[in-house]
Amino acid sequence: MTRIIKKIDKELFLEEKCFIPTMGALHKGHLSLVRLGKKSTNAKTIVSIFLNKKQFNDKSDYDSYPIDLDGDIELLRKEEVDYIFIPDENYIYPKDFVELNDIKSGEKGSLFEGAHRPGHFDGVLTVVNRLFELVNPTSAVFGKKDAQQLYLIKEFFANKKNNLKIIEAEIIRDEYGLAMSSRNRFLSKKGIDIARNIFQILKNTKDYFFQNQDIQKAEAFGKELFNEYEINYDYLNFVDPKYFETPDKNQEKLLIITAAYVEGIRLIDNMEVIQSWT
Ligand code: PAF
Repeated sequence: MTRIIKKIDKELFLEEKCFIPTMGALHKGHLSLVRLGKKSTNAKTIVSIFLNKKQFNDKSDYDSYPIDLDGDIELLRKEEVDYIFIPDENYIYPKDFVELNDIKSGEKGSLFEGAHRPGHFDGVLTVVNRLFELVNPTSAVFGKKDAQQLYLIKEFFANKKNNLKIIEAEIIRDEYGLAMSSRNRFLSKKGIDIARNIFQILKNTKDYFFQNQDIQKAEAFGKELFNEYEINYDYLNFVDPKYFETPDKNQEKLLIITAAYVEGIRLIDNMEVIQSWT
């Protein structure tokens, strides 16, 4: 049976748990995190729903973020999660939670996505750290769609919580490649069709790179595709997924990351590029 809780008591704190933190407005992508958590561990599953103000650099983005608590609870009950943790703002950030407790994501948090959303990754690390402190999980699941977030979380907690297993979940897409996102629900039918081109742009950029072996030209090619589709974008970059920095074209694994706007909605996506010479 699923239990809805607002606080973590001592007994639950000590229990073995697989943790899936979310900001609600759940979709198939989130449910895949839950399923992966269940498949990969024997622990109880705990899903948090907390819309973290600290990670929104843009107030209007926070104000308009989708909320569907009843729908979320229904979905999570169907998944038979053990606990749905819905904390209040002042449980996560009590009065004595001074700014000093805020975590800085450093240089790697100020590049790419971080360059366009200043402070965003500081807010993410701060809340994930706080949630980890409260929940005390043995494992936690994060999606690969938020590639830079996943990288920063792995880096930050690697030493701090070395008993914690971070489980990485693949991106879930619709049949035309659109990555699942809570923000997709704001798109019209036409907007969904337009947004599906983001996947195609990533795929064509990857193919272009395979043919030309030139990162800069491939980035320019991908940006040109955005222009042709008349989709505004913040960035399209190849990165080294291991260090989240500019890669060498000969690396075995590269990642193409992007953020674009459809009907004013900001969508992020990425695609792995695996080079094999055998
Ligand atoms: O990926 C998200 O939904 C959020 O950034 C997270 C990890 C739940 C922190 O608020």
